Amino acid sequence: MYPIRRNRRLRTSEAIRSLVRETIISPNDFLVPLFVVEGTGVKEEIASMPNYYRYSLDLLEQEVKELWSLGLKSVLLFVKVPDALKDNKGTEALNSEGLMQRAIKTVKNACPGMLVMTDVALDPYSSFGHDGIVQNGKIVNDDTAEVLAEMSLSHAQAGADFVAPSDMMDGRILTIREALEDEGFTNTGIMSYSAKYASAFYGPFRDALDSAPVDMVDVPKDKKTYQMDPANRDEAIRETEMDIDEGADIVMVKPGIAYLDIVREIRNAVEVPVAVYQVSGEYAMIKAAAEKGWLDHDAVMLEQITAIKRAGAHIIASYFAKDVVRLIAG
Ligand code: PBG
Repeated sequence: MYPIRRNRRLRTSEAIRSLVRETIISPNDFLVPLFVVEGTGVKEEIASMPNYYRYSLDLLEQEVKELWSLGLKSVLLFVKVPDALKDNKGTEALNSEGLMQRAIKTVKNACPGMLVMTDVALDPYSSFGHDGIVQNGKIVNDDTAEVLAEMSLSHAQAGADFVAPSDMMDGRILTIREALEDEGFTNTGIMSYSAKYASAFYGPFRDALDSAPVDMVDVPKDKKTYQMDPANRDEAIRETEMDIDEGADIVMVKPGIAYLDIVREIRNAVEVPVAVYQVSGEYAMIKAAAEKGWLDHDAVMLEQITAIKRAGAHIIASYFAKDVVRLIAG
């Protein structure tokens, strides 16, 4: 009780503040998303994600070496697929010589210790821009899960350490786990996007991969029949518990900042590592406000990353990973 207890005593200097700080950010917290394109010598800036790039395989090699030198030891790979290779079933996703499969090998050759996770969903490969197969105006569940299992197997065969299904089909974790077990990939992990919301914060990402749902009759314009309603909380726990029962090694909440209540609930409810994805729109907002001189870029970036970890994230997928690590290294 005041004045016996004066809370400000623990805030009087940076030394005491750092001594009692509850949340410390380090390079170990991060998973670095990387966008890969065909070609050589390509490093293209993504228009709606300033200072974030798509890399061709040769430059991807340099990028992962740089990440490694900064202490960043895990990457999450996404590929931008040429339109000519897209179809409804995402056939190209299963090509053992496809861009993703080559990207996995490139990272492993450049940096054998780097943990490689791969995005598993049909959208970058889908002529309709959906995470699953479209039939009669609907996204079909079980047939999609079968393709995702084949895709996961193909990534595991190419050397992926973890597959990360981001599609939100029901039962896909079990289908993928069984496929991996059947083929002897018992140590290939699954990081499930388990509470993934139908969020408007993914816009810049869909620009990065040219993967937005197309505007055509009989093609749903949004992902609301599979991604979660932002209004729901109990459902996030249910989704996450089911994914763990089906074999998810790591679960994820996505997006980050607007969903930190969900992060804390899930962290309290489950006993597997919890990842949070600070998504493209969250990145773009900070960049845009900082460009206008309205926010202090580094301070807001670090505050948001700290808030995500404080809320309960064991792992943070973030486009800011490199910037944060450089900042905290001083
Ligand atoms: C694809 C996928 C998306 C993101 C990660 N994997 C987009 C979507 O679901 O439409 C979003 C990542 C971001 O916005 O940074 N299934």
